[in-house]
Amino acid sequence: MAQDFEPRANTVARLILAGLVLMPLTFVGLGYALERSDYVTGQNETVEQPIPFSHAHHSGEIGIDCRYCHTSVEVSAKAGLPPTTTCMSCHSQLWTEAEMLAPVRESLSTGVRLKWEPVNELPDYVYFNHSVHVTNGIACTECHGSVGEMRLMRQAAPLTMDWCLDCHRDPVPYLQPPEMITYPYRTTSQMSEIDQAPLAEFYDIHPGGLTDCSTCHR
Ligand code: HEC
Ligand code: HEC
Ligand code: HEC
Ligand code: HEC
Ligand code: HEC
Repeated sequence: MAQDFEPRANTVARLILAGLVLMPLTFVGLGYALERSDYVTGQNETVEQPIPFSHAHHSGEIGIDCRYCHTSVEVSAKAGLPPTTTCMSCHSQLWTEAEMLAPVRESLSTGVRLKWEPVNELPDYVYFNHSVHVTNGIACTECHGSVGEMRLMRQAAPLTMDWCLDCHRDPVPYLQPPEMITYPYRTTSQMSEIDQAPLAEFYDIHPGGLTDCSTCHR
């Protein structure tokens, strides 16, 4: 995440630098393929966590809404991760002896937060904002995949610039109605046979400046 107060010139300088470093790669076939592979983008990788937390269990089977744990997703740039007390709202009664949950109980008694490792991560020079997407018709699963089926979280999208731009050129076909935004399973607008035009009007979508460099590099 770019810091809001970071001098703009600094960001531009780093972009130019990154461009210079990466440019020769694009002239080499192998380099190009490597640049786009899952190995480089981190796509589909899972990450070791202090507890093997399952979205398949919690959001798929039990049906807990994303916003119960990711409380700031509609109002700020970051979605936010749940504090230990959120887990304990259920696990002080449920599975209280489970070995798997020992780190949660320890965190509650010591007051030291669980340290969840990042799964999706953009470089510092890219600006991203959750609230602007989820309040403008883009569902979590559009970018994070079928979370309700994931025993372990993984990075579902490549998170490359091309991937962002593909949608920013014309986001209208991706729009979902408000009640689908936090639906845990992947659906596409085609699957639900949604009429896009009224949604574009409802969300007041203006794709005009969405591909300007300064939208994502500020
Ligand atoms: C009961 C709490 C809970 C619920 C409900 C929940 N999550 Fe999570 N989520 C977590 C925790 C804890 C982590 C960190 C561990 C991990 O990555 O699996 C996390 C991680 C994530 C990540 C990866 C974060 C990163 O580092 O990139 C994404 C994406 C995510 N959740 C999306 C969702 C979506 C979408 C929903 C609703 C369909 C949802 N979550 C519902 C607790 C929850
Ligand atoms: C709204 C209630 C609720 C909340 C909040 C909740 N859980 Fe759970 N959790 C459950 C239930 C119910 C089960 C039992 C699932 C089953 O076996 O069907 C469970 C099972 C588990 C398990 C063991 C089973 C498994 O494989 O998933 C772990 C580990 C776990 N939860 C971790 C967490 C963590 C960490 C948090 C906080 C980020 C959390 N839970 C928040 C209800 C909750
Ligand atoms: C337009 C794509 C997109 C949508 C829609 C989206 N996310 Fe994300 N999410 C991302 C990206 C990109 C990152 C990595 C951000 C970074 O590194 O700055 C991320 C990171 C996260 C994280 C970890 C970092 C944080 O922000 O706290 C969580 C948790 C998360 N997303 C949950 C959700 C949930 C829940 C929803 C739906 C309510 C959602 N996301 C919708 C693209 C998206
Ligand atoms: C599936 C579609 C989709 C994807 C993927 C997507 N976006 Fe967006 N993005 C949107 C929509 C829709 C808007 C809001 C447009 C509007 O308000 O008219 C938006 C708005 C934004 C804005 C705010 C623009 C402004 O001036 O207010 C930023 C910043 C942004 N996106 C960054 C990103 C980045 C960075 C990525 C890739 C990591 C990304 N987006 C991926 C659809 C998408
Ligand atoms: C919708 C968001 C978005 C817009 C608009 C955008 N970028 Fe990017 N840009 C990204 C993301 C995301 C990355 C990180 C890609 C990665 O890590 O693979 C990136 C990376 C870069 C890089 C680093 C080198 C590379 O290719 O990975 C350069 C240079 C760059 N952008 C220049 C630009 C320029 C110039 C423009 C305007 C013509 C622009 N970007 C518009 C999202 C955007």
